[in-house]
Amino acid sequence: FEQMPLQVNVNGTAHRLSIEPRVTLLDLLREQLHLTGTKKGCDHGQCGACTVHVDGARVNACLTLAMTTEGSTVTTIEGLADGGPTGALHPMQAAFIKHDGFQCGYCTPGQIMSAVACIREGHANSPDEVREYMSGNICRCGAYANIVDAIMDVKK
Ligand code: FES
Repeated sequence: FEQMPLQVNVNGTAHRLSIEPRVTLLDLLREQLHLTGTKKGCDHGQCGACTVHVDGARVNACLTLAMTTEGSTVTTIEGLADGGPTGALHPMQAAFIKHDGFQCGYCTPGQIMSAVACIREGHANSPDEVREYMSGNICRCGAYANIVDAIMDVKK
């Protein structure tokens, strides 16, 4: 397949890449950039495990062609926290730990990226509103109640 140029900023690093037009953002992140924090659950838009932010908006990376992120800023779970010398977690990451918002952890990166977007977009005014916003992120372990608690804790 023909390769196409792509310029994209991922977690603060500018990349000039050459990719096949059919490559999804999810495969670009995991296979070319080795950012494997973003998970592949279903690979067709049903589970939310692949949730990342593109220019601040939440997207399913498995449904997003990498080419469409030309000139954009992508944030993954690896780039969410400021890090810095203390390696501090993002407040949402800390809240998931405090409230036991995960069991096996596979869905957690996507849950956290959606949770951050939930508050940023103003959809965390009640537990019901949070549940509605987070309904695209599936957790097979059933940590939903604790995830909602974590989000409401960060919101307050
Ligand atoms: Fe993208 Fe499931 S892997 S929604």
